[in-house]
Amino acid sequence: MRVLFIAGNWKMNPAKGEEAIALANAVKTGVGQAIDVRVAICPPFPWLGVVDDALSGSPIGLGAQNMNAKADGAYTGETSGAMLVDIGCTHVILGHSERRHGLGETNEQVNQKLLTALGVGLIPIVCIGETRQEREADQTESVIGHQLNGSLAGVTPEQMGGVVLAYEPVWAIGTGLTASPAQAQAVHAFIRGKLVTLFGGATAARVIVQYGGSVKADNALELLACPDIDGALVGGASLKPADFLGIIQAGQTVTATGKPAS
Ligand code: 13P
Repeated sequence: MRVLFIAGNWKMNPAKGEEAIALANAVKTGVGQAIDVRVAICPPFPWLGVVDDALSGSPIGLGAQNMNAKADGAYTGETSGAMLVDIGCTHVILGHSERRHGLGETNEQVNQKLLTALGVGLIPIVCIGETRQEREADQTESVIGHQLNGSLAGVTPEQMGGVVLAYEPVWAIGTGLTASPAQAQAVHAFIRGKLVTLFGGATAARVIVQYGGSVKADNALELLACPDIDGALVGGASLKPADFLGIIQAGQTVTATGKPAS
């Protein structure tokens, strides 16, 4: 049984450390101790330390939004996985579409980062997803298959059991356009099938596959109820405590009531 995992990707927000602390405190208070879903928040690099302090004593995980694949060396402006672990990170988002499409990050680079992250003990959240043009050209499965082949190369089945995937259709990110539960479930089922081929059925059944793209408190319940959707990677709504807590509450409800039989 996969435990639902709700993660907040704060992207390049908020502008001030004190706002980051206030946001983390609000989520921490709202979540409390007794949660039966996994929760993590992923602030920008400068706020990782203060947010780690704020989250002290909480079950909420801390994630970064990127890392360099190299262990150390002359890479001006870059941040290593070991640094993330030292500052308190448990997770790292890799291959977000804003990096793939905005900064030209490739599957090969994502793969190198993934292998490094696994080596230092971080839980990677590997993002995949098709653009609107690719969906309209009926290329969704081929694009996602290619991203999975490339990004997950060289990962063992044992390692893969601890990797989190996030299906984020690019056309749904920050646009208010959410994939319908049926559209999202269809891609998640495809991803699960691909994981069976690559890693075997036992591993595929363990891998958490989050959905991301305009997840809000009012659409989370029906998305999280889908059989192959195991959580959410939340952007804009994770910056508003009430909205993020509402999504976590939807996860708790689905966990308590069970998913409808598929
Ligand atoms: P939004 O929830 O703002 O659409 O962002 C999704 C996302 O990119 C999370 O990583």
